[in-house]
Amino acid sequence: MKDSHGRKIDYLRISLTDRCNFRCIYCMPEEGVCPMSHDEILSLEEIERLVRVAAKHGIKSVRLTGGEPLVRKGVEDLVAALTGIDGIENISMTTNGVLLPKMAETLKTAGLNRVNISLDTLDQDQFREVTRVGKLEDTLAGIDAALEVGFDPVKVNAVTVRRLDQDLLGFAKLSIDRPLHVRFIEYMPVGQDAGNGLAGWGQGDVISSQELLERINADAKAEGMEPLAPADKNPLGWGPAKYMAFPGAKGTVGFISPLSRHFCSECNRLRLTADGKIRPCLFSDTEYDVREALRAGDDDRVAACLMEALGAKPDEHHDKVGTERNMSAIGG
Ligand code: GTP
Ligand code: 5AD
Ligand code: SF4
Repeated sequence: MKDSHGRKIDYLRISLTDRCNFRCIYCMPEEGVCPMSHDEILSLEEIERLVRVAAKHGIKSVRLTGGEPLVRKGVEDLVAALTGIDGIENISMTTNGVLLPKMAETLKTAGLNRVNISLDTLDQDQFREVTRVGKLEDTLAGIDAALEVGFDPVKVNAVTVRRLDQDLLGFAKLSIDRPLHVRFIEYMPVGQDAGNGLAGWGQGDVISSQELLERINADAKAEGMEPLAPADKNPLGWGPAKYMAFPGAKGTVGFISPLSRHFCSECNRLRLTADGKIRPCLFSDTEYDVREALRAGDDDRVAACLMEALGAKPDEHHDKVGTERNMSAIGG
């Protein structure tokens, strides 16, 4: 599949649910979201049908997201079903990790290839401040479980927000002793400001990847460590991260820079929301309903809808602030 700007689209991000067992301040309101009803959300069979059609049109990599994908009942069965689809080369998941100690083994057996785990801080109190309800030890146990069952690569996503004043070097060091790929993400103003825990969005809370790198290297120097250098080998992935590494480290340190380095010209993805809308761009609320076609079992209409969404992918986003959907209902 090529879009109207000549970009090859082979990556589909699927949000399985807008529910989550956390309430991260940059992602959803404190009281949670008014969850989509059972009828609204796509069944696992409908999602499988969509992926079958998408694979025929060139989708090779599928990422399951949320909200929190592991709270969706039957997620292991969905992974197993997707594994069997011709053309799908890689199935990944973005999760907060809490349920991995319980589910990692089954997911691995079902065919899940890799996980990206969201974790923004190693400080217990700050973890609670960011997630509002989570316990740091639970997500850390999720990371251990992911490594133990052999997901490869295992990435850790840290959203950086200036007012949180995170310990960047301490976090980057997670990549040294174990094969963990830490990625720092520039905070994106997605969702509704009023319902968001970070009211008063603005560039003020965005720390550019360049500044992050400089701060990490300055702190490393102060500790007598070598600075980050371009990584010899990037971990497998379909996303926009750029990777560096500490000399001799087992993992890497990546930077995802949606605001300071528009990677739209390299965009390779479509998104599917839990309620069956295809979303051509994270930052745009233009969506295409594919649910009716899926419920009618009409694969031609499903394909036509995919093509329509593909044709509507914008050439780039224009630093738009706010979207109708919260990040939790888009899936990152
Ligand atoms: P891999 O590289 O394949 O491991 O995955 P990924 O980095 O695409 O997936 P992940 O879900 O871990 O996303 C990491 C961050 O990148 C999240 O904050 C996403 O919101 C952000 N991101 C992913 N795709 C896009 C995109 O198309 N546009 C923007 N602006 N941000 C994106
Ligand atoms: N800005 C940047 N990243 C975000 N994520 C969630 N909300 C935001 C935001 N406002 C991240 C999550 C997860 C990924 C899918 O998106 O931490 O790792
Ligand atoms: Fe849940 Fe992830 Fe959003 Fe946090 S960022 S509330 S873990 S979906």
